[in-house]
Amino acid sequence: MLKIINVVGARPNFMKIAPVIDEMRRRAARLKPLLVHTGQHYDEAMSESFFTDLGIPHPDINLEVGSASHAEQTARIMIAFEQVLLDERPDWVVVVGDVNSTMAATLVAAKMAIRVAHIEAGLRSRDQQMPEEINRLVTDALADLLLTPSRDADKNLQREGIAPHKIRFVGNVMIDTLFRSLERAKQSTVLARFKARPGEFAAMTMHRPSNVDDRATLAGIVEAMAAIQERLPIIFPVHPRTRARLEEFGLMERVRQMQGLTLAEPLGYLDFLQLYSNSRLVLTDSGGIQEETTALGIPCLTLRRNTERPVTVSLGTNRIVGNDPEVIRREAFAELDHPSPRGRVPELWDGHAAVRIVDAIEEASRS
Ligand code: UD1
Repeated sequence: MLKIINVVGARPNFMKIAPVIDEMRRRAARLKPLLVHTGQHYDEAMSESFFTDLGIPHPDINLEVGSASHAEQTARIMIAFEQVLLDERPDWVVVVGDVNSTMAATLVAAKMAIRVAHIEAGLRSRDQQMPEEINRLVTDALADLLLTPSRDADKNLQREGIAPHKIRFVGNVMIDTLFRSLERAKQSTVLARFKARPGEFAAMTMHRPSNVDDRATLAGIVEAMAAIQERLPIIFPVHPRTRARLEEFGLMERVRQMQGLTLAEPLGYLDFLQLYSNSRLVLTDSGGIQEETTALGIPCLTLRRNTERPVTVSLGTNRIVGNDPEVIRREAFAELDHPSPRGRVPELWDGHAAVRIVDAIEEASRS
C-alpha cells in the first residue's frame, strides 16, 4: 500500500488536486491518499467554497498557517509539515503549482528523503521578481518526479539539467476539472445576479503584487478599466490583497464611480467558471485563467510582462499586454473591433491528466 500525502494551500491549488484525489481513491486497493491543507488561504471565499464546489474531501490535516510575510508563511508551513511527515511517514508527497505551500512542503520532504511528485512542473516565466518563479525553481530542483502540463515545460527542465527519467509529460490537470465542471456550472445563477448577458461583458481578476502593490501601477490599470467599461461592462471579483490596496491607495472611490464596472467578492469555482465562460473577453494576471480561457476559446488579455504558460499564446487565445494602461486599452478595443479566432487546445489538455499522473506515481514507485 502506497501512502501519499497530497498538499494544497492556496486557491489555485484546489482545482488541480481534485481530480488527482478522485483518481487515487479509485485505486484504494493500492493507494492511501491523505490531504493536507496548509491554510495559506483560509477565507470561505478563497478556500472552503472550492472544497464544496469541487467535491474535495475534507482535509485530513489543516496546518492553519494563514497570512504572513513570505519568509514567515513558508517557515510556519515547514515547521508544521515536518511534524506531519514524522507522524505519517508517507511514501510520497504530492505538491501542485507554484505557491509558497508547494515549495515549503517540497523542502521539508526532500530533507527527510521522502519522494516528491510535482504536478505542473517545468513552467518558467524567467522573471524572479515573481515569487512563484522562485517557488517553481526550488520545487523542481528537489522533486523526484516532475509531471509537466506542456512540452515547453519538459524543455525547460532538460535545460536546467534535470535527469530525463524524472520528467513525465502528463498534460494539464486543471483542464480535467474544467471539463468535468462545465455542466454543473450552468446551474450557477451568477449571470442573473450580475445582470450579465452572455458575450456582452468582460470578466476580470487581478492580484499580482507587481500590479497591485505599487500605487502608480494600480492607478494606471484602474484608468484602463475606466476606458474599457465604457464600451464593455466589466465584472471584477476582487482578491483580498487587491481590495486592501485599492482602499489603502484611495482608489476605491474612483472604481466605485464607474457605471460599467461591477465589483464582487471572490467567486467560487463554479460561479467563476460560469462567468468567464460566458464572457466576451477576460482580463487577468492569474496563471491558471490564461489556460482555462485557452481551453474554452475565450479571448484573454494577460496584464503581465511575461507568462510561464507560452502555449496559451502560441496556440491559444492569450495575449500578454503588460500593465501600461494605454496598451491594455488599445488591446481590449482591438479585440472588440476585430475578434480573434478561437485558437487551438494544446496537446493532452484532454480531461485525462489525473489518470496519467497517478499512473506515473505508481510506476515510479516500482522503480
Ligand atoms: C497566492 C499565491 C499565488 C496565487 C494566488 C491566488 C504565493 C507566493 N502566491 O497569492 O501564486 O496566484 O495565491 O489567489 O503563494 N488573504 C485573505 N484571505 C485569504 C488569503 C489571503 O484575506 O484567504 C489576504 C491576506 O491579507 C494576505 C493576502 O491576501 O496577506 C495575500 O495572500 P497570500 O497567501 O500571501 O498570497 P496571494 O497574493 O493570495
